[in-house]
Amino acid sequence: MAISDADWKLLADLFHTRFGLVFEGIRRSFLEPRLAPRLRELRLASYREYYHYLLFHPQREAELGQLKVLLTNNETYFFREEHQLTLLAQHLVPALMRELETRPLRILSAGCSSGEEAYSIVITLQNAGLELRGVNWQVDACDLNPRRLATAREAVYDANSLRGVAPDVRARHFDEHDGKFTLKARHKKGVRFFEANLVDPAAGVGWGPYDVIFCRNVLIYFSDASFDAVISALARCLAPGGYLLLGHSESLIDRRTDFTPACIDGSIVYRKAGR
Ligand SMILES: C[S@@+](CC[C@H](N)C(=O)[O-])C[C@H]1O[C@@H](n2cnc3c(N)ncnc32)[C@H](O)[C@@H]1O
Repeated sequence: MAISDADWKLLADLFHTRFGLVFEGIRRSFLEPRLAPRLRELRLASYREYYHYLLFHPQREAELGQLKVLLTNNETYFFREEHQLTLLAQHLVPALMRELETRPLRILSAGCSSGEEAYSIVITLQNAGLELRGVNWQVDACDLNPRRLATAREAVYDANSLRGVAPDVRARHFDEHDGKFTLKARHKKGVRFFEANLVDPAAGVGWGPYDVIFCRNVLIYFSDASFDAVISALARCLAPGGYLLLGHSESLIDRRTDFTPACIDGSIVYRKAGR
């Protein structure tokens, strides 16, 4: 069933208001085939009826929960943009060593998908020998998509999540069985997953305060207004002087924010004022 432009606009506006996500151009063609089965399942005759269902039906929250799964692009893999992990271990954490004698290092992976980013952070901290130096950490990781979070907690991955990871590194951190890779239990240390909508006005309230936030390849799917709202939420839960790391096609340059860009070892990082 084809969607008229008028119905598409109604739905797209609703998705934007609820989740911050925009579906223009090629992103519309990604979404349309994902929505069609929902109409069949709910026995609805048109997209206008679906729109009304999402607004008024007693089961609308359950359907919006289904949409969290359908609307999101969850592409991710282990050790993505590894230079930022190196930066964490070689520059950001060493600068905090004195404080970390008396408190844990706190990191957030915002838009963590199925957990590859959070676990890559833990492996990096472990490989840097921080446990031996008595450093503890808490790595919080949140996402909108509950199905991805279930995968994250289970920590069993297919080869696609490990593309680009050398065989000896795989063997060190995963147990392989029937083409599936189970993360070794020691790499789950200090990781906590939770469901959150980053454009919710309450996002970031009572979280942290974090020393470092990774929010990579998430903002590219947002409108300008949602982008700004998420940056404000992340600024709220970042400690003064804390660092925000974005994906390679995301930038705060030319935006009014609480952050100052810095280039460390060739990587751009954003530092919150206050220290
Ligand atoms: C492309 S993945 C990026 C995963 C990881 N950060 C990385 O760089 O590999 C984007 C993630 O952002 C999540 N996301 C999208 N909108 C969100 C929102 N409003 N609140 C929280 N997470 C959201 C999606 O569910 C998806 O898992």
